[in-house]
Amino acid sequence: MTLRVIIGTIATVLTLALLGWAAINEPARMATFEASQAGRSIENGAALFESNCTPCHGKQGEGIPGVAPALNNPALFNGQRLKEVGFQGTVQDFIRLTVSAGRPIPSAGTNYPQRMPTWSQRYGGPLRDDQIDDLVNFIMNWQASAGGAVANTPAAPTFQPVGTSLDVTLPAGDPARGETLFNGTASLADGKPAGCSGCHVSGAGTIAPDIQGIATRAATRKEGYSAEKYIHESIVQPNAYVVQGFNAGVMPQDFGQRMSAQNLADIMAYLMTLK
Ligand code: HEC
Ligand code: HEC
Repeated sequence: MTLRVIIGTIATVLTLALLGWAAINEPARMATFEASQAGRSIENGAALFESNCTPCHGKQGEGIPGVAPALNNPALFNGQRLKEVGFQGTVQDFIRLTVSAGRPIPSAGTNYPQRMPTWSQRYGGPLRDDQIDDLVNFIMNWQASAGGAVANTPAAPTFQPVGTSLDVTLPAGDPARGETLFNGTASLADGKPAGCSGCHVSGAGTIAPDIQGIATRAATRKEGYSAEKYIHESIVQPNAYVVQGFNAGVMPQDFGQRMSAQNLADIMAYLMTLK
């Protein structure tokens, strides 16, 4: 009787200990599992690449001159390529879409004699969705080596930031160009869209003030400030004057670093047309 109680107790304690151990190790096991899944996907992708893509893109994705471009290529991962073709999504989406649909129409400035074929069954190609995913994971895995090469070479400063001082001489601004910068259809000198229109939604005005009529309002905002000077300050030192009903620190504080003098002049010229 006592023996049975003792055995029962030991069994219970052991079971609880085991359960506890499994629970503690669950996140670690999940991570290992996910890592091995990702590893397997990249391996599958490598095999698919070997048999389907190397004839045109080369063994290491280094490209074959006159046949197909390099994929193991910093420009593909650092956003340069996406900018060239005007693609708004992520690198991963760009690769998935190109591999799935192929590229029946040559991209600007290229004249490869053969077209990039269509691979996804969704577009009439031979590969399943999971195989497309494997290929994308395999190509993305080059980011480390291709991207690393870029990180090692210090980026040459490509433009002179306009800075946050109001005492700068600005070139003549082009309002049409300024509008594209404001709307994000063109990028700032740092290569990224400004995103002004994302917050300054016309009419809505909950995140940021409505930008319509700014040229008129700007002249009345600050004692002794011309409309231009107020707009200039609002862009490079957003917290210098916080519009009533809105919060300080919401508008990005780094436009002085991201814009060239020309960028600022163009955007200011555009805002000055919004009477
Ligand atoms: C018949 C030759 C050929 C084969 C096979 C081929 N490609 Fe391509 N691929 C091209 C060409 C040519 C381009 C460039 C097309 C253009 O930009 O107009 C390209 C472009 C690409 C791009 C976009 C690169 C960029 O910078 O825009 C990706 C990604 C790509 N291929 C992946 C693959 C994958 C993955 C496979 C195998 C499943 C594959 N390709 C097989 C010829 C090929
Ligand atoms: C993340 C949201 C956000 C982005 C992006 C943003 N702004 Fe603003 N902006 C605000 C907010 C919030 C205010 C009001 C608070 C203040 O005065 O700082 C404001 C105020 C302004 C004002 C003053 C408006 C007035 O009625 O007095 C101007 C001018 C302005 N922004 C221009 C721009 C320009 C040009 C860009 C792009 C280069 C831009 N903003 C990007 C949020 C944003």
